[in-house]
Amino acid sequence: MANLSLILLSALALSFSVAFATDPTTLQDFCVTNPIGQGNSVCKDPKLVEANDFFFSGLHIAANTTNPSGSRVTPVFASQLPGLNTLGISLARIDIAPWGVNPPHLHPRATEILTVLQGTLQVGFITSNPENRHFTKVVEKGDVFVFPIGLIHYQRNIGYGNVVAIAALSSQNPGAITIGNAVFGATPEIFSGVLTKAFQLDKNTINYLHSKF
Ligand SMILES: *[C@@H]1O[C@H](CO)[C@@H](O)[C@H](O)[C@H]1NC(C)=O
Repeated sequence: MANLSLILLSALALSFSVAFATDPTTLQDFCVTNPIGQGNSVCKDPKLVEANDFFFSGLHIAANTTNPSGSRVTPVFASQLPGLNTLGISLARIDIAPWGVNPPHLHPRATEILTVLQGTLQVGFITSNPENRHFTKVVEKGDVFVFPIGLIHYQRNIGYGNVVAIAALSSQNPGAITIGNAVFGATPEIFSGVLTKAFQLDKNTINYLHSKF
């Protein structure tokens, strides 16, 4: 009897883990977000939805990469393309100048699949504790690389001209946590006593990093 309940319990646990491993299903064909200020949690009246609600233009335009990291991400998330709401998918264009980097960051809600349209990138991601294994590869035009959900990853242009890449993400609103900005640029600041111990740095270095972020 005890064994039977154990088997039933395991079967139940298994079915739950399988159920939770799938994408959520939508309850309607689409749920276009209302314009800001008109109740974003409510779908736009389907009769008023038009083709332009599923449309975005401009990803052919190179973004300005004149900034300290030498890169820029142009998002096409639900806030840029209202028809993406509830659909669990989005994309972004990534421009990186020679030797620029898309700095280490993670997406709390999305896996990212990236394809290079132009140039050569060194990409990498790091697994969770305790292994912190670093997977890295050089990818070129036509190559595809995937960054699993929630893992820290980066891209670096290794110099052969400008990089253009398209990243598809498994969320309409993937979110991004850029490690340097989050740790050294938080508002209000994380106490330097926390950061000196955590990163084994002296207070001057922490102050310097605070000023940079
Ligand atoms: C690119 O951005 C830099 C820094 O903000 C600015 O000085 C420059 O004028 C911009 N270039 C173009 C073409 O917009």
